[in-house]
Amino acid sequence: MASKNKKTQEDNPLKNVIAHAKEYGFIFQSSEVYDGLQAVYDYGQYGVELKNNIKKLWWQSMVQLNDNIVGVDSAIFMHPTVWKASGHVDGFSDPLVDNKDSQKRYRADVLVEDKAAEYVKAGEPEKGKALEQKLGALLEAEDLEAVRQLIIDEEIVCPVSGTDNWTDVRQFNLMFSTEVGSVADESSTIYLRPETAQGIFVNFLNVQKTGRMKIPFGIAQIGKAFRNEIVARQFTFRMREFEQMEMQFFVRPGTEMEWYEQWKETRMKWHKALGLDAEKLQYHDHEKLAHYANAAVDIEYEFPFGFKEIEGIHSRSDFDLTQHQEFSKKKQQYFDDEVKQNYVPYVVETSVGADRSFLATFCNALTTETVGEGEKQKERTFLKLHPAIAPVKAAILPLNKKDGLPEIAQEIFEDLKYDFNCIYEEKQTIGKRYTRQDLIGTPFCIAIDYQTLEDQTVTIRHRDTMEQERVHKDELAGIIGNAVSFKNIFKQL
Ligand code: GAP
Repeated sequence: MASKNKKTQEDNPLKNVIAHAKEYGFIFQSSEVYDGLQAVYDYGQYGVELKNNIKKLWWQSMVQLNDNIVGVDSAIFMHPTVWKASGHVDGFSDPLVDNKDSQKRYRADVLVEDKAAEYVKAGEPEKGKALEQKLGALLEAEDLEAVRQLIIDEEIVCPVSGTDNWTDVRQFNLMFSTEVGSVADESSTIYLRPETAQGIFVNFLNVQKTGRMKIPFGIAQIGKAFRNEIVARQFTFRMREFEQMEMQFFVRPGTEMEWYEQWKETRMKWHKALGLDAEKLQYHDHEKLAHYANAAVDIEYEFPFGFKEIEGIHSRSDFDLTQHQEFSKKKQQYFDDEVKQNYVPYVVETSVGADRSFLATFCNALTTETVGEGEKQKERTFLKLHPAIAPVKAAILPLNKKDGLPEIAQEIFEDLKYDFNCIYEEKQTIGKRYTRQDLIGTPFCIAIDYQTLEDQTVTIRHRDTMEQERVHKDELAGIIGNAVSFKNIFKQL
């Protein structure tokens, strides 16, 4: 029966984030001139820099900091049997449910999870936990009818129609498929990979043998993944085309929980090192385990719409390699010198979305504060990004366009541009130029003025404090280098 309990449409909590990302060249809707394609986004001139910096810091933290982790770059298309073996053809689906009045489609599990989060927010954490556990058990048992009943019992209504007039809950496979080959008879269905991990598993022996890797060791990869998500909401949080940064760590069976705990900790530190506020990060243990996992935890970030997953750490046992061994009829074993045994290694996986890490970083950095006093009081908005991931490290700004100031500024720009992404700008007042750099998160504005002509000093204006200091121009590379240093960020890990 339709409930009268109509929920009003709330303002989108990401409104400011979306507007800022678009206005300042970070993220655009894909194919916007044709009114966009849902859940697909393009990164603009500053967005691509920020995203590349996040990916680079992930890669360095995995491959460069660990001499037992190497990288690969596997193809998006893979043999279709890979997805049969991995369980994705039969099991990679989400439970969906439609509201008959609004014709809107939802993920049944997300509806219940949101309700559980509401209980927690309302100061009833026990109730929230119990609801999550109940959902986990029903999904585990694949009892979709009971999931529907749970939605109704919890009085969950469609936010659009406000009714609980729900269809049956059914499973929907998330993989995109296409045909390979030009002759119809010879063509076969292949999939766009829904995770990068399988490209690592099928190369496990190639890498182990050619790299003479000894267990424990890891293989890392950054690449695109595709999922036909039922509910594409919340900006870049849930996209149909996105990028993953995944690492499979191959270990001796029986040691996996030790490594699981260790990676759990290391990965949390990485998010903090990138500048995410510690109090906005938490672990969330999975109630319902994926078909391949024997333990799993999410690292969640508190987005404006609540705590949500940014990374998953999974103990995948020997599931994937054993499956590939069975389906390919090729042994996926490792001979362990120390224990003189052949075995299929166990795997601990760390899997973070580059786009989600971007979104968390962006939400975390977008800051508005009141500055000035009395009549001069005004609001200032800036992106408080860690200098290492800021799209532009320094803006070189001559005070005006004459008297030799642009020439010195150009010299400084030429000197810094090989090591740092810099901007040279001479138009508009210096105040307006500072504001513009604040909005894209540039940590250092370097002003060249008349004193520079006399003693070669410049002012550095710091983005977060707006404080200015005078330094010799030869000190600039050292100051910027120190702030963006890979070592300074990661020596704490
Ligand atoms: N190989 C394991 C795996 O793919 P997952 O939890 O399904 O696990 C891992 O995905 C991470 O990938 C998530 O924590 C999230 O950051 C990112 N991710 C997954 N689906 C996404 C989507 N539709 N849009 C953006 N990022 C997504």
